[in-house]
Amino acid sequence: MLSREVREQMKQYAHAHCFRKTAQWMQRNAWHRPLAFGEEQLEQAHALHDFADVTTPNAYLLNKFLHTLHEQSGVFLPHMNINPICRRDYEAYFARERLAQGLALRIPLEDAVFGFLENGIEVREWTAPGLLETLKQAVAEEDRAPLGLSELLRQVKHKKEAIRLYLLHKASDFLTEGAAMTGSLGGSSGPLQCSLLRVFMDEYGNGSLERKHSSLFKQAMASCGLETYPHCYLEDYLPSSLMMANYFHFICKSPRHFFQYLGAMYFAEATTTCFFEKLTAAFKEALGTEKMDLSYFEEHIQVDQRHREIVLQELIIPAIEAYGDSILQEIYVGFECFRRLAGCAAADLAGQIRFADDVLGGRQPPEPSAAQPARHLVLHGGNRAFFPRIAETALHLELQRGSLEFGVGTGGFVTLRPGTRVAIPQGRLFRMRPEQGQDCELRSLPLS
Ligand SMILES: [Fe+2]
Ligand SMILES: [Fe+2]
Repeated sequence: MLSREVREQMKQYAHAHCFRKTAQWMQRNAWHRPLAFGEEQLEQAHALHDFADVTTPNAYLLNKFLHTLHEQSGVFLPHMNINPICRRDYEAYFARERLAQGLALRIPLEDAVFGFLENGIEVREWTAPGLLETLKQAVAEEDRAPLGLSELLRQVKHKKEAIRLYLLHKASDFLTEGAAMTGSLGGSSGPLQCSLLRVFMDEYGNGSLERKHSSLFKQAMASCGLETYPHCYLEDYLPSSLMMANYFHFICKSPRHFFQYLGAMYFAEATTTCFFEKLTAAFKEALGTEKMDLSYFEEHIQVDQRHREIVLQELIIPAIEAYGDSILQEIYVGFECFRRLAGCAAADLAGQIRFADDVLGGRQPPEPSAAQPARHLVLHGGNRAFFPRIAETALHLELQRGSLEFGVGTGGFVTLRPGTRVAIPQGRLFRMRPEQGQDCELRSLPLS
């Protein structure tokens, strides 16, 4: 359990106007960040134990808080004409009092989310050549491995929706690409600082808005019919999407993790070229004659070959020469942590794509035989504000009365009618509310 003091601070923080529930499927401004967790869930908040813990309501809660407070140090200017509602969110999100609360929560929540990450990573007596060989071999293995998403895209019926779902989850990081990295650029780290800055400049398009990686990602999203302003899909982000974004804020804002950051960055930069080659091939196969903008991916296939060399030749090797063997294990830990985290996020996303495909296809599950006693829920039609949920255990829902708007992480919803049954696997994110004006009655069967 988190300490009582931390849980109290979380409650106070979440109380602010800008953290209220939303009544929209998409967020209108980047300062309204719902944190409407139940009192009981906040009372039970506890540190994550392992990767199996990442797809739980508790991990969702911790990562959502962390994402919200990390981004209080980022400049988010409106994409639209600012109105009084947005202005109130802006003022609440960046109020000095809220910044102070966010700063006080940052370290305990980072510890709660990332404390387990190093568990099980072997401690070795590294030599520099041994470490470099191990890293290169691991990258080569990643490059050779088939892409799970390719097979998944072949299997699902709603291929375009699956691609949209992939993009909108990556938007948690890619629409503000490079933002976390700013945390590692300050101070004085000699030639390493200059090499880091060269990577950073590429991320920011060397000062050209059109070439900025986040701009290229916007083009990919827009070409698939998605909105592109930062965090409009906030309420559809999975815990693992938030955690990936949080991880880079965590290691970049912590100078003590600088060498871990180099290891993590090497994994990210060195594996992207092959990964995106496989991904773009999978997108093209899935879309057939339909087109999407692939400039973001094509740019990375090129530029990350250079970044891979910069990270290895200008950052990792010179750092080892300058600071000795004591940093070898740290570089390895960063590399391994990020490799494991990326694997966990890929599995989470694949699970959500499968779930979304079932619901969008109207697949009706059979009546469960071994379920716990049913719970009856009434959702009031006048209540337009809602909040995402992560299924703690597998659930079987049956709509008994009314029409229900049901979202599965794709930025929108399907309308369910009475008699519809939905199977929700453990860890899946969903959002639901009654169609305007009508009460809904649901029968919920937890399967565990
Ligand atoms: Fe990039
Ligand atoms: Fe890169």
